[in-house]
Amino acid sequence: MEFKGSHILSVSQFTIEDIYTIFKTAEIMEPYASRKKKTKVLEGAVLGNLFFEASTRSRISFGASFNRLGGFVNDTVGFKFSSMAKGESIHDTSRVISGYVDLMVVRHPEKGSVTEFSEASSVPVINGGDGPGEHPTQALLDLYTIYKERDSQLNNLNNLRICLVGDLKYGRTIHSLVKILSLFKNITYIFVAPEQLQIPEEIAEFLKSKNHLVSKIDNLKEAVSNMDIVYVTRIQEERFEDRQEFLNLQGYFRFNKEVYDNYCRENTIIMHPLPRDSRPESNELDVDLNDIHNLAIFRQTDNGIPIRMAIFALVLDVVNKVSQYGTDVQWYTPKR
Ligand code: NCD
Repeated sequence: MEFKGSHILSVSQFTIEDIYTIFKTAEIMEPYASRKKKTKVLEGAVLGNLFFEASTRSRISFGASFNRLGGFVNDTVGFKFSSMAKGESIHDTSRVISGYVDLMVVRHPEKGSVTEFSEASSVPVINGGDGPGEHPTQALLDLYTIYKERDSQLNNLNNLRICLVGDLKYGRTIHSLVKILSLFKNITYIFVAPEQLQIPEEIAEFLKSKNHLVSKIDNLKEAVSNMDIVYVTRIQEERFEDRQEFLNLQGYFRFNKEVYDNYCRENTIIMHPLPRDSRPESNELDVDLNDIHNLAIFRQTDNGIPIRMAIFALVLDVVNKVSQYGTDVQWYTPKR
């Protein structure tokens, strides 16, 4: 795809070549992401970081990535203090904000809403999560994490065996990740969820049509044996219309050290997009796994910075100028 000036709305936009371009650009960004270097390449550029739905890491990660390229970030958080609470349409909000900024990141609770934003915007729009729809940059950072865990070789993403656990119906990170993985060859997907939260049928059918192996099961311990990746997700409480239905499913699966030690292969990588729901009634990914090296959750969050820097640099067409505007950092940074 042509990145310059493009909206990033869905992983369906990407080919394997695009993923290669994004990962190679992310590798260029690594020293800036880990504060070995700094750059002013986006000095003067403004990002509109519009989050109409709860977020901690995505909002800060998008903002910090833009800052690390030398740009300025303007944030808004929540509906309540936005003009949408006064009845303003997505069209008008988008048209107005695009007159103020160079790029927008938008998170919104309705599926399809970020595409609607992009249609009214004169600047590129990046989907930061549209309800239960998609979360393309999360899928890129998840895929980049798997790539790095597998010797940074795109070929090593072929033949992957991945088990996806939790809320597969509403989890947008799942929807984006399984679709982007389908670009590779011979993937085995095991979807572990109670019937009500299983992967939408059209997604399962799409994966099968690409010649991948798909199975749905309701038994965590059976599913996790012999997997390269176990990707656990939070039950998306905010998407349930009937609270009782959420309460009935809360804590349905709990992936912990006992399950890991007794049922997983030694080299299985554990992932989660975060936040994990650490309330005792939920606890889908237990803190007793925290000391296990194969728990990749914080490597995932760290990888969000070079990936989002790469997307910004590609869309604003500055990849080749990053080092020209780069210098060493002069402040204390811990060794990583
Ligand atoms: C996820 C999201 O918002 O979709 N979080 C994230 O962006 N890393 C997952 C979730 O909220 O469960």
